[in-house]
Amino acid sequence: MPEQSELERLREYAATREYIDRELGALFAPEDDALRAAMAAPQANDMPQIAISPLQGRLLQILALACGAQKILEIGALAGYSGIWLARGLAPGGKLISLEFSEKHAAVARASLKRAGLSDRAEVRQGPALDLLPALEAEAPFDLVFIDADKPSYPAYLDWALRLTRVGGLIVADNCVRGGAPLRGGSDDPGTAALGEYDRRVASDSRLVSVALPIDEGGMDGFAISVVAAAEATTQL
Ligand code: DHB
Ligand code: MG
Repeated sequence: MPEQSELERLREYAATREYIDRELGALFAPEDDALRAAMAAPQANDMPQIAISPLQGRLLQILALACGAQKILEIGALAGYSGIWLARGLAPGGKLISLEFSEKHAAVARASLKRAGLSDRAEVRQGPALDLLPALEAEAPFDLVFIDADKPSYPAYLDWALRLTRVGGLIVADNCVRGGAPLRGGSDDPGTAALGEYDRRVASDSRLVSVALPIDEGGMDGFAISVVAAAEATTQL
């Protein structure tokens, strides 16, 4: 029956995707006890299980190392899993500042970073990010900003990231693919609409060179990655 073979083909495709993610994770992003504990912390603490994947974590570490990051800003700490990867990409003497809305999540993130031996270089600041960001101008410029927080605020977070990131620095945002919904446009969901606005803005802003990669959830979600190539906007021809 043709339907049966199509179903089999789809099953095999899904199984292969799972196999690839598992093997690539094991090969390129092996977790130590601190990362495993941070990945397990949301379930143990009744928090949403929405951390980035190990491969995404390794990519953040690579991006931090590639730009020689001395100062990293994270918007949305959750349980500290991405923070561990980011802090492990800092140059010697560097610092991660991670903003977290929830008091509970901030406490869990601090514990994760402490367990990883990173408390000396990673600080979690608790509060609404849009209230905390203005004070960070005194600590700018940052080499890398990672956005992974409430989706409706992504465009506002991008405005701040553009203010706070040096030329040659990176702005990375999670969940910019989301099953394609942000790309379709016209969504009634404020989070989806904001992600679409974020994607369109980073794709077209003349200060940025950007890409979005479907590297999570079997290709259904992923990062937008932007390098700040110029301080001033230029008219695009
Ligand atoms: C959600 C948020 C995230 O940052 C993520 O990576 C996945 C899901 C959410 O709010 O549903
Ligand atoms: Mg996310």
